[in-house]
Amino acid sequence: MTDTTPDPAQLLAIAVTVAREAADTARSMRAEGVSGVTTKSTATDVVTAADRAVERQVVAALAALRPGDTVLGEEYGGSGAPEGSVRWVLDPIDGTVNYLYGLPQYAVSLAAEVDGVAVAAVVRNAATGDEWTATRGGGARRNGRPLRASAQTDLSQALVATGFGYDAKRRAHQAEVLTRLITRVRDIRRFGAAALDLCLTAEGAVDAYFEKGLNAWDHAAGGLVATEAGLVVGGLDGRPAGPDMVVAAPPALFGPLTDLLAEFDAAGGP
Ligand code: IPD
Repeated sequence: MTDTTPDPAQLLAIAVTVAREAADTARSMRAEGVSGVTTKSTATDVVTAADRAVERQVVAALAALRPGDTVLGEEYGGSGAPEGSVRWVLDPIDGTVNYLYGLPQYAVSLAAEVDGVAVAAVVRNAATGDEWTATRGGGARRNGRPLRASAQTDLSQALVATGFGYDAKRRAHQAEVLTRLITRVRDIRRFGAAALDLCLTAEGAVDAYFEKGLNAWDHAAGGLVATEAGLVVGGLDGRPAGPDMVVAAPPALFGPLTDLLAEFDAAGGP
């Protein structure tokens, strides 16, 4: 990053404005009835008219507010970003299956990255209006209040959230990992929106979270919230968080949890 790097606080202000409008759209479209439902990678990987409309709205809003930036979105993709420029990473509705069923656990997830590093982030639960924000080095907040993550030090007492991919073979492998892990922790939770899982971990509602197969838009914003709440966010065997694995855990749990996940080959399989 250079001296011309935009101020993370200014980027966050823009992110929050845009995400609130986007969440309003998602919620009001849900109230009118879910429409335009099609599938993507598998028959269970749904996308709705709202996912697409929200993404188009955010892209247009960011183009108006910050014309030089690029956007990577779940539904329409995006291009690479020139060095030192801002790339916005967007999941218009994370938790689309929850959205489809009316479960109040779906969110707009928006992060501003510079050279691949998230510097500002917002995750807004569109159903409840709860909002998690963070800037790099500036801490994490829920509805404006600083967050405190779990201080759990004993993995056997940890409540661990996770999620599953949409591909049946991948799920089979994830289920095998889970059958081994569940006897080594307090319990497992699966809420259905990775961005919110990371935020729930950031506020200590669960002790830790892991998932294989996430895309950048699933974890860019929530990952910064979790990091800024004091969690360690990374992959297995010293790798950064990425498609192979995203783990968010308190410092004392990160090593034991990633060791177990590596032993169970959680980043392997399809
Ligand atoms: C999904 C959710 C889910 C996670 C999947 C993601 P989407 O995102 O975050 O919790 O387990 O891996 O793909 O499809 O609802 O945007």
